Amino acid sequence: MSIEVIEVSPRITMPPAGSTVAGEVFRQLLQQAIRVADQANSQAVRMASDFAEVYRREQSVRLEYETKLREMRLLERQSTRYAEDLAQMLRSERERREQLESALEAERVANEELRRTGLQGISHLLLAATIKDQTTGAHLLRVRKYVEAIGTRLGLPAQIVEEFGYSSVMHDVGKIHTPDHILQSEHHLSTEEFEVIKQHCIDGEVMLGQARFFETARAIAREHHERWDGRGYPDGKKGDKISLAARIVSVADVFDALTSKRPYKTAWTIEEGMAAVIAGSGAQFDPEVVATFQALQADGSIERVRQEVATAQLD
Ligand SMILES: [Fe+2]
Ligand SMILES: [Fe+2]
Repeated sequence: MSIEVIEVSPRITMPPAGSTVAGEVFRQLLQQAIRVADQANSQAVRMASDFAEVYRREQSVRLEYETKLREMRLLERQSTRYAEDLAQMLRSERERREQLESALEAERVANEELRRTGLQGISHLLLAATIKDQTTGAHLLRVRKYVEAIGTRLGLPAQIVEEFGYSSVMHDVGKIHTPDHILQSEHHLSTEEFEVIKQHCIDGEVMLGQARFFETARAIAREHHERWDGRGYPDGKKGDKISLAARIVSVADVFDALTSKRPYKTAWTIEEGMAAVIAGSGAQFDPEVVATFQALQADGSIERVRQEVATAQLD
């Protein structure tokens, strides 16, 4: 803001004496006074507007400052809340993880318990089956070992191989319901008798209940007489509609039945049994399982299983 100095002009022309100059002087003085007043007035107006301008600028700076301050406070509040939320999230995340870990531990314990109970259940079932048919003990043991060897050779995970193995021994568990005279018949079965035999697949599946532990065992019990070409029983399932476990058990079970002595037949040699299995490849059996079984015969695994079980029987 600038302050202007108002100058009063000293240049007043003095009128000649005795003329009507008094009026002229007055007029000039008046005009000068008006000019001075005008100047003072416009200077005051300028000052006022300068002041208004400064005041306006200060106001806007203040407003801006207040707005900024408000924004900062808001931001501060938000970040405080955010930090609290984050801390809360971390806390509940940790709690959740701890809960999950203890739930997993509880599940592991329950699974172990289930496994033990399941394995106990299997040995009870097998005991019952063995009492009914004296030959089954060695048969089941060999089938289990063949199944595990095939599974391993197919590259299945160890856990699955184990599951297939212990599940395979229950393939004929439904035969507990089959009348002895049919089970131990030494002559050809009639159509009616064969219908009764077929029922052991369904009975076995039902006997094995609902537990997850017996899921594979149920599939094996139900499907171990199904055929790759769909002409088996009880459901006529075909190809990979039959579970892999049952396709493997089918080969192991038939091979062992052929190479064992039964009331109605002598034991076939390994070569004869293998020839029959190969003849059934793509018809009765899954070709991949047959090829795997052939590879096991070639490397001596089949012979080894037979010797192991024979030794175990002597012990
Ligand atoms: Fe069977
Ligand atoms: Fe069998």
